[in-house]
Amino acid sequence: MKNIDPTTTNAWKHLTEAANETISIKKLFEEDPARFEKYQVRFKDILVDYSKNRITDGIRQTLLDLAEQTELKAAIEAMFEGKLINGTENRAVLHTALRNRSNSPVYVDGKNVMPEVNKVLEKMRVFSEKVSKGVWKGYTGKPISALVNIGIGGSDLGPVMVTEALKPFQFPHLSTYFVSNVDGSHITEVLKQVNPETTLFFIASKTFTTQETMTNAHTARDWFLENAHDKEEVAKHFVALSTNGNAVREFGIDLNNMFEFWDWVGGRYSLWSAIGLTIACAVGFDNFRKLLEGAHAMDTHFRNEPFDRNLPVLLALIGIWNTNFLGAASEAILPYDQYMHRFPAYFQQGNMESNGKYIDREGRPVTYATGPIIWGEPGTNGQHAFYQLIHQGTQMVPCDFIAPAHTHNPLGDHHLKLMSNFFAQTEALMNGKSLEDVREEMEKEGKAPEIIDKIAPHRVFEGNRPTNSILVKKINPSTLGALIALYEHKIFVQGVIWNIYSFDQWGVELGKVLAKSVLSDLVSPDEVTGHDASTNGLINAFKKFRQE
Ligand code: F6P
Repeated sequence: MKNIDPTTTNAWKHLTEAANETISIKKLFEEDPARFEKYQVRFKDILVDYSKNRITDGIRQTLLDLAEQTELKAAIEAMFEGKLINGTENRAVLHTALRNRSNSPVYVDGKNVMPEVNKVLEKMRVFSEKVSKGVWKGYTGKPISALVNIGIGGSDLGPVMVTEALKPFQFPHLSTYFVSNVDGSHITEVLKQVNPETTLFFIASKTFTTQETMTNAHTARDWFLENAHDKEEVAKHFVALSTNGNAVREFGIDLNNMFEFWDWVGGRYSLWSAIGLTIACAVGFDNFRKLLEGAHAMDTHFRNEPFDRNLPVLLALIGIWNTNFLGAASEAILPYDQYMHRFPAYFQQGNMESNGKYIDREGRPVTYATGPIIWGEPGTNGQHAFYQLIHQGTQMVPCDFIAPAHTHNPLGDHHLKLMSNFFAQTEALMNGKSLEDVREEMEKEGKAPEIIDKIAPHRVFEGNRPTNSILVKKINPSTLGALIALYEHKIFVQGVIWNIYSFDQWGVELGKVLAKSVLSDLVSPDEVTGHDASTNGLINAFKKFRQE
């Protein structure tokens, strides 16, 4: 992968100039009646409409030029071919191999990884079927009824996001629980709801050293042994999803109950690996396979489709336009599907841990913005919480609206009401409402002129706020897999163009190291003096509170 400072490209210069001109999305539609047809891509059961952006034909072409001039095509190939593109950790980045349903060979250091990938998938199939069919029994001979995933970050958010999104596909006799926070309240509340005789714990940790996960895992094991008494029974109730066999053995989990993955799978890209075992058990292996197939279809599209029809590339370029040239500091992901409620949180980690970097691939500070803040909530809850700022705030927040045409719960007119909000919001964000219209409306309402003068400015919407609309036929394993892969590859494209390393996360290390040293200060009876005045003061106050 070449290291190209994007600001040195001709395309970047042209885009900087183009950003000086005011572009009205509404006018673009008036000028081009075919805009909707031209600014959309249909991929299987997914329609992506990106026409409501401040993008002209010329800007779109220049953004595509930027992708060429930063040699994106070669970078995509490098990733799929298993080149060591995670340069600070000297690792390949191959979540695509985990869902490579074509089974074509993928080499890492000259070794085809597909046989190992398939072996683990087969082990997952056999295990998940035993669990769902009640063949896997607990220590008193009862079948499993509760699945508890203990993990954090990518070892939590992927499984929780997907099992929530696919809840309509979940076996009714299995309940799922997720414990991530080291705050003891999290595991306490989960353990209150489950029975040790019928609970299966999935200890999900790539490294098997993460403080939060290991603390929760030990607490779960202690709780289990208080009931089961016999250490031998742990094997029936604990499985490990990890790359670290030694640590798994040391914890006391039988290696037969370990589902392996590899260092070329990033934590936040790991739901396709053994980390997905909770998903496979909850919704069945066939559905897990369909999830992989959906993602693989998007991978194939990403690898082969020309950039002007390539969804991850287009969404990434639009994001770059909004972030680097129109000054957006954040992006909202707004699923109009209650089951997708953790999708924004999942991609908050996906984006912010991947592209929240200020050092480029040459080790120099960048001179341009990189990853935006990602946030969001399901519609219509968000509408009644933060859309005010999206419509009338001083910051431009580009939004992705995501919705299914078919709901899993066709209850009265709920879905049509939900969807009318979806369409109305994107329309309102684009069109806004002018002062003249507001005044006319208020006159019709019979308002006095002085009231109109006073209130009308507050009722004006500038509009011209960019959105993408992602409409899917139905949220099912296959469309969900494709949607996740779409957003994953968007992150990759942006990282390539921003010339940063998207697959490490050194930024989370400092806090982890400091937390370890602070922990020993909290345990010691002495007054703490080794930190700055504020931190010393806070720790000492905390210790004093605990004595009172
Ligand atoms: O804190 C960051 C991180 O390393 C994430 O990237 C990862 O998903 C998470 O911690 C959990 O790590 P592990 O799976 O090794 O427990």
